[in-house]
Amino acid sequence: MDRIKIVGGSRLEGVIPISGAKNAALPLMIASLLTSDRLTLKNVPNLADVALLARILRNHGVDHSIEGKRAGPALHLGETFHFTARDIVDTTAPYEMVSRMRASFWVLGPLIARMGQARVSLPGGCAIGTRPVDLHLQGLKALGADIEIDAGYVVAKAPKGLRGGRITFPKVSVGATHNVLLAAALAKGETVIENAAREPEVGDVAACLVKMGALIEGVGTSTLRIQGRDRLEGATHTVLPDRIETGTFAFAVAATGGNVVLEGTRRDLLDTALAVLEKTGAQVIDVPDGIRVSRSGDVIEPVSVETQPFPGFPTDLQAQLMALVTRAKGTSVIRETIFENRFMHVQELARLGADIQLNGDRASIRGVARLRGAPVMATDLRASVSLVIAALMAEGETTVNRVYHLDRGFERLEEKLSRCGAQIERISA
Ligand code: EPZ
Repeated sequence: MDRIKIVGGSRLEGVIPISGAKNAALPLMIASLLTSDRLTLKNVPNLADVALLARILRNHGVDHSIEGKRAGPALHLGETFHFTARDIVDTTAPYEMVSRMRASFWVLGPLIARMGQARVSLPGGCAIGTRPVDLHLQGLKALGADIEIDAGYVVAKAPKGLRGGRITFPKVSVGATHNVLLAAALAKGETVIENAAREPEVGDVAACLVKMGALIEGVGTSTLRIQGRDRLEGATHTVLPDRIETGTFAFAVAATGGNVVLEGTRRDLLDTALAVLEKTGAQVIDVPDGIRVSRSGDVIEPVSVETQPFPGFPTDLQAQLMALVTRAKGTSVIRETIFENRFMHVQELARLGADIQLNGDRASIRGVARLRGAPVMATDLRASVSLVIAALMAEGETTVNRVYHLDRGFERLEEKLSRCGAQIERISA
């Protein structure tokens, strides 16, 4: 397994191009199941999760090709993918696939909507929490799907197709919103989703579905009103910038000090997170085609934050913020309200010298004067990248093991950071 070696202490200076959002690219790829026409997605990040989902979709009968793909490392950022699901050849999503990538569970809605049936494995728990799928099932039942659980699989039927319905989610779920939104686009009549997730990635999927022929009102609000169509058409859509990648690099600059332009991104995708970053003492200004993040002083101010669904502070940036405030002048408090087990980075940050007390869903981080490099590893993507941020601040050398987590969600992380002066390199197994 590859590792990443980092020698801390360098300030970051330069330009980092921001990739297309992983968490929009995945449901957009799944939207290709809804039409027999070609769906073209631009600005798709080159990530392990994207490659895996393309393989999973192929099992269902989705052909895909990458435009102008050249072999070798000189791949340009942001690829253009074409997906065509002329015939769905298999409506089963097996355990081996869904357990490797939870987002592939979201094929459930589109498969029932198009084929009137689907058999999709329950994803199981994962490193950050139990992550049930009850809300997905509740939503699809409201559209008329008949759902049973059999031998670890969700077996769903709607022989006459789905019909519009009304669902009020008792809790905000990004995935359940995607699943029902995708299905509703091909259901008969109107669907209303109340308490829908407002994450920008949901808006991006809705925008693509509109290009495919669905009528959707309320995008960006918590009430989505979808007029389904008998048939959806092909479309071309550009994946929106990755707000979590943006935030991660912004937090890294605040951690090391320096001055970096994050190119191809937008502040409005992560207003709350950037406001927190400014409270820690960093500056954020808008520049043409992006934002500039800088921190000149030595002091990182402590903050108190709780994670919330969009537009609140994202759980996907919680670990990165924690890495930053390990060196704050004072004690920060971070409360994780979305996932029950998303503090796996705490013990690893402690190995670098961080002083963190956990109490239920609350972490108190007492800032320390210095971190020291050490071998570390993490069990999920965002936790792994928080260790990279801590390592950039630490004295001496850190090795981050289990790099495959990073490859799932960060495109060319080492290259982007080393171009800005970080001492970071991948050590191949
Ligand atoms: C999406 O996961 C993201 N994944 C996650 O990013 C992100 O952390 C999460 O949303 C929250 O923003 C993708 O977009 C691929 P949820 P999702 O359903 O959809 C509970 C990353 O690192 N819940 O919004 O699975 C659930 O257990 C990943 O890129 C139910 O109770 O998250 C959690 O506590 C990690 N029942 C809360 O809702 C359900 O049926 C929010 O989960 C569904 C969810």
